Amino acid sequence: PNPLTIAIDGPAGAGKGTLARRLADYYHLPHLDTGLTYRAVAHMLLTKGWPLGDEPHAIEAARLVELSGLDKRILSAHAVGEAASRVAVIPEVRRILVDKQRAFATQSSGAVLDGRDIGTVVCPDAAVKLYVTASAEVRAGRRLAEIEENGGSADFAAILADIQRRDERDMGRADSPLKPAADAHLLDTSQMDIEAAFLAAKAIVDDVL
Ligand code: C5P
Repeated sequence: PNPLTIAIDGPAGAGKGTLARRLADYYHLPHLDTGLTYRAVAHMLLTKGWPLGDEPHAIEAARLVELSGLDKRILSAHAVGEAASRVAVIPEVRRILVDKQRAFATQSSGAVLDGRDIGTVVCPDAAVKLYVTASAEVRAGRRLAEIEENGGSADFAAILADIQRRDERDMGRADSPLKPAADAHLLDTSQMDIEAAFLAAKAIVDDVL
């Protein structure tokens, strides 16, 4: 059979990461969370104390990113995600990271990739494209629940404002803005739990197999 490539895009907190992992497990495909590559660049700048707008250093950091060395625990911090969305506006950083992501996507086994521009830029020929969304309020509520489950506390209004700011930055940038590919299946998870979202996505994938 042809290798199966599944492209998953959507805004921060829509549940695309969890969905991507579930689909990768189920279809026995390797999975790449492309957000981690932008986070790795941001993390390197933060660690060295370089400004996030320092393009030459951001480009150098992008060249040094290795897909096998992405440490999810270190990169998952909220501040790193925020910083990632700033370096992600630099076209040369995107070009370098997209090359690495494409190399991952074209392995013979097929792959699941999730991010912001997978269906539109990284894998425009993917067999299945999903655009996963949820209302900003639902996404903020999920993030708050996650923080509280981990013993922390946060303010709903502040989280919501954060999410809206990140949406604006990701949807408003000139290079590869977040938007559904013309042939993407829209999956609004506002009223769905993880299991329901997985079943809906699986039905879409099985349809093309
Ligand atoms: O998905 P995650 O929150 O880890 O992504 C962090 C940031 O990286 C996003 O807000 C976005 O600006 C950027 N990103 C991107 N293109 C991707 C994946 C992530 O621009 N394919």
